[in-house]
Amino acid sequence: MNKNLVVLSGAGISAESGIKTFRDSDGLWENYNVEDVASIDGWYRNPELMTQFYNERRSELGRTQPNDAHKIIAELEQYFNVTVVTQNVDNLHERGGSHNIIHLHGELTKVCSENGKKCVEDIGYETYDYGRKSADGHITRPFIVWFGEDVPLLGKAAEAVEQADILIVIGTSLNVYPAAGLLFSARPSCKIYLIDPKEVNTTSRVEFIQKKATEGMRILKEKLLAEL
Ligand code: OAD
Repeated sequence: MNKNLVVLSGAGISAESGIKTFRDSDGLWENYNVEDVASIDGWYRNPELMTQFYNERRSELGRTQPNDAHKIIAELEQYFNVTVVTQNVDNLHERGGSHNIIHLHGELTKVCSENGKKCVEDIGYETYDYGRKSADGHITRPFIVWFGEDVPLLGKAAEAVEQADILIVIGTSLNVYPAAGLLFSARPSCKIYLIDPKEVNTTSRVEFIQKKATEGMRILKEKLLAEL
């Protein structure tokens, strides 16, 4: 039987596709105040700004392609039961060919109703003006998990990590909880690899591959297949 392999990804896996990370020196949080564009309170204060911010991110995503790291993770499905738990709101894992993806922080290509996140709708890379209505008559908002909000898929993600034989943590600074805490749901026998060009402060259990995502995944794929 194939082993269970879980990938926990963050913004760094999409960096080589041209999407900015959040906390690197040229990251998104250098130019925007996270409270203004990524918190539920920011939405209450200035929903027009938030709508515009996610319109820009969505348009940018439409011009972006998955890179080899996304593709190699998809290829691993030939050898392992792969679950991707991603903090990313882009769809590059899907477009790279992965089939089993948990989007912890929501999805850029989707919108929902302001009323309890109902009426989820796939709008692709479309932009729209604040004031657009969802099917229930309430204002449309991005289908994103903002700071201050519940993480509805956390339980499903934790279950996947608990069942993992191999966990690959890639492109995340592990600054944001509860996502960062998922690592600690791994069984003692689970082998944990971490791929990042910079050192990441985390548990000593990880085997650190200090490389960018594409090169790191190439190296790790070879290693995992050699051990099959
Ligand atoms: P961060 O920006 O905090 O961390 C990105 C990580 O990617 C850093 O550790 C970088 O060193 C690494 N990195 C940069 N380039 C890379 C490359 N080419 N290959 C591999 N790694 C690279 O992003 P996240 O950890 O994803 O949430 O941030 C977590 C959450 O914070 C996001 O989901 C978002 C943000 O606020 C919300 O907005 C709710």
